[in-house]
Amino acid sequence: MYGGHLGTPSDCKVVLNDTRFWSMDESQAQNAILSLLGEVSPRDLPKVIQWMKNGSEIEELTTSNADVLLRNIADDLRNCLPVEAMVASERQAVENIQRLQKPTIHVDAFLYNDDTIDILCEEGKMSRNYCMSCGSTKTAPLDFVSHSFSIPELRFLFHHALPDLSGKTLLDVGSRLGAVLFAGYIYSSASRLDGVEINPELCDLQEKIINKYNFLDRIQVHHADICSQKTLLQGADVIVLNNVFEYFLNKEEQIKAWMFMYENLRKKGSLIVTVPGLKESFSKLQVNIQLSEWVEEIELDTDIFLGPDTDQDALSDIHLYKVL
Ligand SMILES: C[S@@+](CC[C@H](N)C(=O)[O-])C[C@H]1O[C@@H](n2cnc3c(N)ncnc32)[C@H](O)[C@@H]1O
Repeated sequence: MYGGHLGTPSDCKVVLNDTRFWSMDESQAQNAILSLLGEVSPRDLPKVIQWMKNGSEIEELTTSNADVLLRNIADDLRNCLPVEAMVASERQAVENIQRLQKPTIHVDAFLYNDDTIDILCEEGKMSRNYCMSCGSTKTAPLDFVSHSFSIPELRFLFHHALPDLSGKTLLDVGSRLGAVLFAGYIYSSASRLDGVEINPELCDLQEKIINKYNFLDRIQVHHADICSQKTLLQGADVIVLNNVFEYFLNKEEQIKAWMFMYENLRKKGSLIVTVPGLKESFSKLQVNIQLSEWVEEIELDTDIFLGPDTDQDALSDIHLYKVL
């Protein structure tokens, strides 16, 4: 069981509407910046460009109150979970990760960004490397696996990948810590956000956050196997499937779950978000699914600055499909 207390909702109601006045579009801003850079002395230009890439002031400019609220939620969750952010009842998933070819550790990207990982490494609570031959100093980088989207990925999903969700419903299959649901509440106008999670401990944890932050009006978490939730699957406008079955179910169960998705995600025009892409998921399983008859992939432009913490490779793993 996870422990810890969520405390009182001191920062619960952060104002989400930014009152800054925006007067330029992308190309106007680019022209203005280029014209300004043209006036900088050649000696200082590289330093100014470096500052634009990494300066903390630039990071602050791209951090909204909504991001701060999500970070508060991540802090609360971190305080309730062990470092690897897996609960006691997830023994099977932990064993599956341990069986992977290359030594892999679970680091939850919603809870830990690069800075927090560095701090844990300094404190000796985590390592980025493993010893290749015990006792020697020969080390190699560990593979990291995350079971949640990071905050930059969630911002990409709701601000760039998905259309305006006003009046739409979103279903997160395997909602885990609730990262997609909370980000959907904060970043989008979706009228309803449903999460289905098979693990009861993780459902309790999501409920605690929903209650603390007063998200009950739009978020509901269902403790269930997704294969018992036909109605939710058939009615949703957006369905999120982030690495949902691979580490948690055996091959047979994965095939059964994907076939259930194929049979029930049929609402024409509904959107399916997956990590990794459907082709990659199905390449490891023997599923009888004709992708081209079911969905059409929508290309995503991942060439967007979402903050210095952004893992561009992780963004490229996000795939969006429209149901035909
Ligand atoms: C990788 S996590 C997804 C996290 C979350 N959707 C996100 O993006 O942050 C996958 C979750 O799916 C859950 N899960 C696996 N199989 C499931 C099933 N058949 N029904 C419901 N949940 C399931 C697991 O317990 C796990 O918490």
